Amino acid sequence: MKRKTFLPGLFIVVLFLISNIGFSQNQIKNDSTPDRKWWKEAVVYQIYPRSFKDNNGDGIGDLKGIISKLDYIKSLGVDAIWLNPIYSSPNDDNGYDVSDYRDIMKDFGTMADFDALLKGLHDRGIKLVMDLVVNHSSDEHEWFKQSRSSRTSPYRDYYHWWNAEQGKPPYRYSLFDVNHDAWRYDSLTNAYYLHYFSRKQPDLNWENPKLRQEIYGIMKFWADKGIDGFRLDAFQFAAKDTTFPGFPKGFEKNFSQYYAMQGNLHGYLQQMYKEVLSRYNVMSVAEGAGNTLEDAHNLVDANRHELNMAYAFDGVDLAKPTGYSLPHFKEVFSRWDSAFADKGWLSIFLANHDQARLVSRFGNDSPQFREVSAKMLTTFLMTMRGTPFYYNGDELGMTNAGFTKIEDYRDMATLNEYKHQKSIGADMDKYMQRIAFECRDNGRTPFQWDSSANAGFSTGTPWIQVNKNYKTINVAEEEKDPNSVLNYFRKVVKLRKDNLVLVYGKYTLLDKQNPDTYAYTRELNGKKLLVLLNFKAKVAAANTGIDLSQAKILLGNYSHPSNNGTLQPYEAVIYELK
Ligand code: GLC
Ligand code: CA
Repeated sequence: MKRKTFLPGLFIVVLFLISNIGFSQNQIKNDSTPDRKWWKEAVVYQIYPRSFKDNNGDGIGDLKGIISKLDYIKSLGVDAIWLNPIYSSPNDDNGYDVSDYRDIMKDFGTMADFDALLKGLHDRGIKLVMDLVVNHSSDEHEWFKQSRSSRTSPYRDYYHWWNAEQGKPPYRYSLFDVNHDAWRYDSLTNAYYLHYFSRKQPDLNWENPKLRQEIYGIMKFWADKGIDGFRLDAFQFAAKDTTFPGFPKGFEKNFSQYYAMQGNLHGYLQQMYKEVLSRYNVMSVAEGAGNTLEDAHNLVDANRHELNMAYAFDGVDLAKPTGYSLPHFKEVFSRWDSAFADKGWLSIFLANHDQARLVSRFGNDSPQFREVSAKMLTTFLMTMRGTPFYYNGDELGMTNAGFTKIEDYRDMATLNEYKHQKSIGADMDKYMQRIAFECRDNGRTPFQWDSSANAGFSTGTPWIQVNKNYKTINVAEEEKDPNSVLNYFRKVVKLRKDNLVLVYGKYTLLDKQNPDTYAYTRELNGKKLLVLLNFKAKVAAANTGIDLSQAKILLGNYSHPSNNGTLQPYEAVIYELK
């Protein structure tokens, strides 16, 4: 009898060892977990290069700056970097207006710097995901210069033009334009061009097969350099009905319904997969996931050969100046989880470079609760199913900027909207309050390295003001404190890396209606973890019905974590259940 029980046990251990070795060599899969992939198991750390570290004192972050901080990045325990655009750009939209896709923005450095950065990351076992901005280019891209020069230019159809003798084109809303008008008249050829974003970001014409080949060529250029993935900026808007039918009045209130997932978008992605993605060992994720769960599935179901994972906005969009409802928050994340439980893969995030700060929007940035609430939110992000995308500075609990004057803001979209609001006689105090809470510049202030001038970000004048709280909230201070937000981040990342159950395990929501606490289990191959999170600034109980007296506490953000489900303000605890 003894032998019998011993043998299968040994067998399982050996199998486990073999499968782990196999996985690291990409040969054998661990049968006990579904379809393992590096990009599912990775924690992705997003770097906003303009604000991370300035190496040459011009006030702008750069590639050499990132290189000088590689050991810090490595110390976080993250697996991959998503780098916001670093291509040549006149910087109307901080690099999201590309004038040369095969060169590096002067402010950021040179191609040699890029090669050194990639090598530095790879030497440390960290992968690099690049931002690919191909719904639009800059109006200073050579293609656009040629395109606007004459109606017969071979580049004319690289963009969307509407000849003025046909009258005014049907209204299209622009997200970034002062007048909200996405058609810009150009007298040179007496025609309008289309720009869903700013006037300096003309939309590329994906319906033109030549344009598509150009983009695949650009992707191959970077993939040949050995990068590990692409994040496709605004790509859900890329395909268009080029007859430009009229849209109903007021459509802009729900513009995504009219702009996202149009025409042959899936066809273009399948072509991109065939021509580029399938030929390289790269991961792919597009910004946005369409309008429905079905859209999202169609983007990422493996047998459709399009993209690897969905990046949906439903969660990140929930925070409002008036707060948000936790049951609604739980409902959104649970709905997405269950829709992707068997097929497809999600990313998990609550912040990025287009949002204000994580702790200011979803937590509580008052001195009393900033640290615990930042840790609680980080616990959430690292214990859900899906690939976490974590924004730089959130690991320090960096907060919103506290700007009060429009002159302090730099974001073109915010400045244009300011002009627009003024032109329609809007309540400007209200607008200033709104942007203080939600403007993306809040998430773009310089990274806080230490308490020296400019938070150690730059020896020059930073392109955007440093947050006034940098003397207390910075890497150097937090390194010294074992209980800092930074050191908690490292612990919870390590916990995720050590527990495959947190990556692939089944998610089950408990105590659904509880307005204050979020409780769920994660289960895989007999291992079961329980996560309890208090989202409120008061003591609150999670009523899970689980006896916690036998549970093992793996991590918590209080020195004496709850052992009975009664949680301190913003308390987070991860248990292993027996
Ligand atoms: C995406 C980017 C954003 C940019 C916009 C236009 O939403 O994330 O930063 O402004 O596309 O490229
Ligand atoms: Ca610089």
